[in-house]
Amino acid sequence: MNEFPIGIFDSGVGGLTILNSISKVLPNENIIYLSDNINSPYGEKSNQKIEKICLHNSNFLIQKKCKLIVVACNTATTNCINKLRLDFKVPFVGVEPAIKPASFKTKSGKIGVLATTGTLKSKLFNITSNKHTNDISVIEENADELVKLIECGIFEGEKLNSVLIRHLKPMIKMGIDQLVLGCTHFPLISREIKKILPKEINVLESSKAVATQTKAIIEKFNFMNPSGSGKKVFYCNGSTKTLNKILNHKFDVIKI
Ligand code: DGL
Repeated sequence: MNEFPIGIFDSGVGGLTILNSISKVLPNENIIYLSDNINSPYGEKSNQKIEKICLHNSNFLIQKKCKLIVVACNTATTNCINKLRLDFKVPFVGVEPAIKPASFKTKSGKIGVLATTGTLKSKLFNITSNKHTNDISVIEENADELVKLIECGIFEGEKLNSVLIRHLKPMIKMGIDQLVLGCTHFPLISREIKKILPKEINVLESSKAVATQTKAIIEKFNFMNPSGSGKKVFYCNGSTKTLNKILNHKFDVIKI
């Protein structure tokens, strides 16, 4: 069991930000990454549709003998992680917007959250948000368009900049001092985001926390693979272009 891989999936390249953090804390673990970009973006789909897609992705990774599955997508986690945990025996780790740390850090009492429509309207996100933000204003921005641009391989330039300005300016005006990147795609453009934000605004994302949690679960279940080679295998069911671009053609991407 221990030499079996960790499975990670997302609606495309966003989950690579999670893979990166996981391979830093668990360098010997073998990893299978599934880029489900044929179904991207998840954020504009109904809860039922997201659930169906995630059950399918989890089945795929379980067939590949994954010992643990990381749902490297806020939209998928907030819409169906509980269902996945009920339906499968393998442990699941998910990712949620970093509302709690943002609420500890804020001095202005105003937090911005950049996420997909699917995340922002999910029950789980709203429960977490209400729990941690009693006297804090949460300014939410649906940024589904950003996911589409990133999936097309756009990480900078005029088009991206104008979409970012449209989303960020209202939050800046309202006085946020914490910006939560509530979608795993967004750390891929954090440099562009930081160019627009005043220096006083702190940017938070969840990949390190997910990696720490993944390690804790691996230890709890005695799943550690100390002599593993840290092999990575990438599967993609849609266009492989952006995935290859980010991976810099250092890995073969298996088209499914
Ligand atoms: N990376 C996904 C997330 O964290 C993007 C979802 C989408 O495909 O809309 O929410």
